[in-house]
Amino acid sequence: MNDDSRAITEDYSYDVADFSEEQATAGANPVSPPPIPDYLQDTYWWAYVHPKSVWVFEREWLVNLILWGNMKKLTQSVLDELDLEPGSNVLQVACVYGDFSNRLASHLGQTQSRLNVVDVAPIQIGNIKKKLAKHDNVAVHLQDSTCMSFPDDSFEETVVFFLLHEQPADARRKTVAEAIRVTRPGGRVIFVDYHGPKRSNPMRYVMKPILTLLEPFAMDLWREELPAFMPAEVKQEQVTSNFYFGGLYQKVVLKL
Ligand SMILES: C[S@@+](CC[C@H](N)C(=O)[O-])C[C@H]1O[C@@H](n2cnc3c(N)ncnc32)[C@H](O)[C@@H]1O
Repeated sequence: MNDDSRAITEDYSYDVADFSEEQATAGANPVSPPPIPDYLQDTYWWAYVHPKSVWVFEREWLVNLILWGNMKKLTQSVLDELDLEPGSNVLQVACVYGDFSNRLASHLGQTQSRLNVVDVAPIQIGNIKKKLAKHDNVAVHLQDSTCMSFPDDSFEETVVFFLLHEQPADARRKTVAEAIRVTRPGGRVIFVDYHGPKRSNPMRYVMKPILTLLEPFAMDLWREELPAFMPAEVKQEQVTSNFYFGGLYQKVVLKL
């Protein structure tokens, strides 16, 4: 069955009663299921929370269109960055529509490594469980990125793909701090997100009104470099940045 033939009634629900059991098996500290953050409910309900959102957006071609044809390149840029010992644990902070997590899980499978995915929206957890069901190296966790329940230093590498631009500054800073906390010293946190494009890039004038209207917090990442949202103790030499598509996208790698 291809994407377009899916029935709109397809069930992406996630039983929050499964939550406690999964927490216990994941080795996370016991916590209650997190509430949906206000910014997600108020600004992004149509994309991630509405019962039909998954049916509308869970299509690789659509995600690729939203990223102006750059989905494959940006996904590959993350895979190229991962340099893991066999049996490593990797965290993906927040679900991503399309093939990103499937490609990441397959890539990690080559080194008998595991992928852990966190998301705060039960419908997204339900969807990713289905989407990644064919992989036996994946665990998903209903958690808020701003206060994750994993112990310190739980993961060799952590990936944050297009989440930070969706969060208000306070939540963004907390997510970055949490991603650092749960990643072990010597590991890396890889961020991919929007960035302010060069003045000569026509996409600047196309994307500004779109983002301002639909993704208002994204403009923070145009105005400030992403490391500005990292804790003060992070040193400049720990950070490497690469830019794509005339500067509209960035990959920032923080070596811990
Ligand atoms: C990674 S971002 C956007 C990715 C990309 N634009 C796409 O096409 O999917 C979207 C995800 O972030 C999740 N999310 C937003 N705020 C979160 C938070 N505080 N904790 C965990 N997940 C969060 C949403 O539920 C959603 O599944």
